[in-house]
Amino acid sequence: MWVSWLMMLLSLWPVAASTARSDAKPGCQEKCGNVSVPYPFGILEKSCAMNDDFFLNCTSNDEGHPELLFGRNMRISNIELEGTVTVGIYAAFSCYNKTGIQTDFYSLWMTLAAPFMLSNTRNIFTAIGCDTSARVTNSEFTYGATCLSICTENVEMSDANPCSGSGCCQTSIPKGLKSLNYSLSTYDSYTKVSDFNLCGFAFLADRRSLKISDWPLSLTPKYGKDAYATDVVIEWVVENKTCDLAKVNTSAYACGTNAYCTYPEIDQGYRCSCNEGFEGNPYLEDGCQDKDECKVEGKKPCQEGTCENTIGNYKCRCPIGKYGDGKIGCKRVGIITIISGSAGDIYETG
Ligand SMILES: *[C@@H]1O[C@H](CO)[C@@H](O)[C@H](O)[C@H]1NC(C)=O
Ligand SMILES: *[C@@H]1O[C@H](CO)[C@@H](O)[C@H](O)[C@H]1NC(C)=O
Ligand SMILES: *[C@@H]1O[C@H](CO)[C@@H](O)[C@H](O)[C@H]1NC(C)=O
Ligand SMILES: *[C@@H]1O[C@H](CO)[C@@H](O)[C@H](O)[C@H]1NC(C)=O
Ligand SMILES: *[C@@H]1O[C@H](CO)[C@@H](O)[C@H](O)[C@H]1NC(C)=O
Ligand SMILES: *[C@@H]1O[C@H](CO)[C@@H](O)[C@H](O)[C@H]1NC(C)=O
Repeated sequence: MWVSWLMMLLSLWPVAASTARSDAKPGCQEKCGNVSVPYPFGILEKSCAMNDDFFLNCTSNDEGHPELLFGRNMRISNIELEGTVTVGIYAAFSCYNKTGIQTDFYSLWMTLAAPFMLSNTRNIFTAIGCDTSARVTNSEFTYGATCLSICTENVEMSDANPCSGSGCCQTSIPKGLKSLNYSLSTYDSYTKVSDFNLCGFAFLADRRSLKISDWPLSLTPKYGKDAYATDVVIEWVVENKTCDLAKVNTSAYACGTNAYCTYPEIDQGYRCSCNEGFEGNPYLEDGCQDKDECKVEGKKPCQEGTCENTIGNYKCRCPIGKYGDGKIGCKRVGIITIISGSAGDIYETG
């Protein structure tokens, strides 16, 4: 008896687990290590991705751990269906010894393919150092900026540092940027600040995760897998078309059932979102599923009454003796007695 109970429980487990929502295309692996790969992205099989642009390389690193790569060597730490990929990119640096001879140097150059571009709202270009001029351009040389940071004494790199040119400098990047080239130069080869600063660093970084306190002026570079990298946010769209044009070709239109077409702020193509009252992956045919508003954690769906989920919406049924919309609040039933002739009828208002 006990044994058969246990067997039943065990055989129920995988069924229960498989009902958890997957954002990958049916039949495709969703995770590469601990990173989720939602469709339109795909790994292992080309057919798991919407097209070649979204096919990613899930490979194993030197320690044998799975690693999701963007392009040839950018490690992906997160993919969001709202239209972002977060990748790790190495910081550029330039270092000198006390007599002003350059000892280490690394500059950076990258280009993104068609549906991808650097997020101008999330990323900020940052230079660290006391004798540091960092230049950033795109590869067409139609955009350029220089960030200059000068100091004469050791500045404590705290997260309260406004990065306004003393030890640290920041500048925003323009919308729709698809390539970057950044490099560092110096005025006095760090000779006047060599007691506390021998290197300059420059990088693009996600404003949300960048911690200036991680970049003290005493920092010297590391190499290989320990090299300093920052999180950079890349935005993606599914097709470089307007919603109206995309809908004309239904077989190529990327948004599934109960989803709608939207334009990102970067305005070069479209994205998909689930309709109000639905949740899930809008890029999968049946990815947007009814949201049970009655079960949203930390939210009270009804002011009053019992919550009842409906497809794409929900109701709040008022308790007996009350009427109205429980989402806002129920009213007491008013009993109006209308005497018509000799018979009395009772009507409830509402
Ligand atoms: C994912 O794994 C990497 C290394 O394998 C680790 O550094 C990172 O913190 C992990 N992220 C999460 C969200 O668990
Ligand atoms: C995936 O990346 C690894 C390591 O960079 C490389 O050796 C391999 O050829 C790549 N595979 C594909 C399919 O691009
Ligand atoms: C700096 O490097 C140069 C060239 O390698 C060397 O001649 C000089 O002695 C170094 N200075 C110091 C302080 O190490
Ligand atoms: C989208 O198309 C426009 C016009 O054809 C072009 O200028 C732009 O660079 C394209 N954007 C992307 C991300 O490919
Ligand atoms: C990057 O910019 C540097 C100047 O800062 C230039 O010499 C180099 O050719 C550029 N590289 C590319 C690939 O555009
Ligand atoms: C519609 O999309 C399909 C799939 O991407 C493509 O093969 C076909 O050529 C497109 N048709 C038109 C009229 O653009």
